[in-house]
Amino acid sequence: MSKYWKPGSERPRTVLVDDEEGGVLFVSTPASSSGFGYLSLERQRQRLPVYKYRTAILYLVENHATTIIVGETGSGKTTQIPQYLKEAGWAEGGRVIACTQPRRLAVQSVASRVAEEMGVKLGEEVGYTIRFEDQTKPNVTKIKFLTDGVLLREMMDDPLLIKYSVIMVDEAHERSLSTDMLLGLLKKVQRRRPQLRIIISSATIDAKSMATFFHIRRRNIGQATEDPAPSELPATLSVEGKGYNVEIHYVEEPVSDYLQAAVDTVMSIHDKEPPGDILVFLTGQDDIDAAVQLLTEDAQNNGLLVLPLYSGLSRADQDLIFSPTPKGKRKVVISTNIAETSLTLEGIVYVVDSGFSKQRFYNPIADIENLVVAPISKASARQRAGRAGRVRPGKCFRLYTEEYFVKEMPAEGIPEMQRSSLVSCVVQLKALGIDNILGFDWLASPSPEAMIRALEVLYSLGILDEDAKLTSPTGFQVAEIPLDPMISKMILSADTFGCSEEIITIAAVLSVQSIWVSVRGAQREFDEVKLRFAAAEGDHVTYLNVYKGFIHSGKSSQWCYKNYINYQAMKKVVDIREQLGRLLRRLGIVLKSCERDTQVLRKAILAGFFAHACCLEEFSPNGMYKTIKSSREVYIHPSSVLFRVNPKWVVYHSLVSTDKHYMRNVIAIDPSWLIEAAPHFYQLRKPNPAPY
Ligand code: CDP
Ligand code: MG
Repeated sequence: MSKYWKPGSERPRTVLVDDEEGGVLFVSTPASSSGFGYLSLERQRQRLPVYKYRTAILYLVENHATTIIVGETGSGKTTQIPQYLKEAGWAEGGRVIACTQPRRLAVQSVASRVAEEMGVKLGEEVGYTIRFEDQTKPNVTKIKFLTDGVLLREMMDDPLLIKYSVIMVDEAHERSLSTDMLLGLLKKVQRRRPQLRIIISSATIDAKSMATFFHIRRRNIGQATEDPAPSELPATLSVEGKGYNVEIHYVEEPVSDYLQAAVDTVMSIHDKEPPGDILVFLTGQDDIDAAVQLLTEDAQNNGLLVLPLYSGLSRADQDLIFSPTPKGKRKVVISTNIAETSLTLEGIVYVVDSGFSKQRFYNPIADIENLVVAPISKASARQRAGRAGRVRPGKCFRLYTEEYFVKEMPAEGIPEMQRSSLVSCVVQLKALGIDNILGFDWLASPSPEAMIRALEVLYSLGILDEDAKLTSPTGFQVAEIPLDPMISKMILSADTFGCSEEIITIAAVLSVQSIWVSVRGAQREFDEVKLRFAAAEGDHVTYLNVYKGFIHSGKSSQWCYKNYINYQAMKKVVDIREQLGRLLRRLGIVLKSCERDTQVLRKAILAGFFAHACCLEEFSPNGMYKTIKSSREVYIHPSSVLFRVNPKWVVYHSLVSTDKHYMRNVIAIDPSWLIEAAPHFYQLRKPNPAPY
């Protein structure tokens, strides 16, 4: 167990309410309160810090095109502001109030909370939309929660977002790729639709630069509108939270294994500290499940209720997270950074911060994007610590040294825009008619290298033509499919190969987290079960076998249980598959089956993923592959049915990086198909085939 010392505690925030038109509104500091345990929902609502600002918020939204609201996590921004707007009449006359979130789980969770607070059935007056799941009713839904990605898609059919009166872009500090795109596009929409109100809200944000960004000048001033247009000057408002002091503890020496250190720290808190729930920040499903397992196994765990929190969790598991801790128990929630600002858990008094999160990183030179466990920023570390001060003074245990925090941790994270592949982003902007993408009004410009690489990739896939315009029909069809362009290309090519029935099943499986249930401890049985489905060709064909078995069983949950298959995931696969089928029919594509001719199937996969081809290094005892395009060392992930099989030539779907780069979802190919699939991309060259 590591030792901690206490260099100091973090200070609470200060009040600032600033109407940039010149007025300054003074707001009294809300009184602190203890837990909400026994209060009615209405009383709970009134106790939230944001309640005192209700009038101020409505005033600013009425009078300004853009309002920027900064407030600590848990102050009630997400759940309350849309309700205030509705109460003030912003949803009258068939209009809708939208609130976007970067994360799907947050969308579902806040929507269900707001429906509960309003006493309505979720999916009616309050609804939500995430990719492949629409819980809204036309002409009934007044408050709609959705991911920023879904709102971007809606712009393809409704470029001015006419049905919305107010759009609240929430969690803007996360600077997700879609949020950044959305902000740039909304600014354009506002020029054409001065009546549209935008609220940008977040836990921490550089309000000044956001305000400068949104200070628009309208072009078409002569246009007559019924109502006088609101001020073009953005207003800024800070909601003071009622966070309590949080004592920060650091480790004295760097820890080598943050997972074990986190588990040890939880046990030590449970031993030594007074009651209060614990929130642990790890990075992803793998290490979270491992920590849950370790803590549950531990003999001393009497009185600990250990719960995981990551996206892809079932509704029942989500509900457990939010339900009050049973008497005499201590809840331990082990979470990804979703609990950093998107979701507020009541009752947390202790935070354990690993100092890491899973982040997307993109290398434009190698054109490799992967999820990497990487150090968080100081801003994130402060947010995480703040989670401990919701109900009373708390403690945060950082699993890194103070010296590291002060000297090495970066102040801010890098916007996702600057560390992702821009392939999807380019297709979407092109479909929205934005041609000069480098000249687009970005909050933070993407790198020219990444942009050029995206254009090259899209050109090689036949999605863009030589003039960087969407090709017809492929490019426009790809833009219609809400999936990664490589998958969309694979789906469209399946039409040519006559295997679209099978390919949409594969695409649906690749769109869910994992169809296998994680089985720590029962690895052997799991591997044996997997063999029942395993196809020599690889994972994609294996998924077809699983799908067939599932349908054959009458979509039985029992069958899933027996076969270590995630029933919820399979139901989702069936649902996504149906939606993809409908989408293809709308594009005029008739579904065809190849009757399990796996050669045409793999050729269709290659049509989208030829750039992910790899070759086994000769005489490599440990199964090392090199990507053909950039000679990067990669390995088959242990979860693949081709793990240890090591066919000479393979194509992968995605890479994950931990100690090495691992290929997930791998399929064996014949190298001659590569030249067939992408003659412009691969030519035979001695001694090795090489990229263009
Ligand atoms: O958006 P912000 O972080 O400012 O706060 P919020 O998400 O609106 O949360 C306000 C309150 O609602 C908190 O006390 C949450 O615990 C509660 N809440 C909840 O109980 N269940 C949810 N699914 C979401 C929020
Ligand atoms: Mg929120």
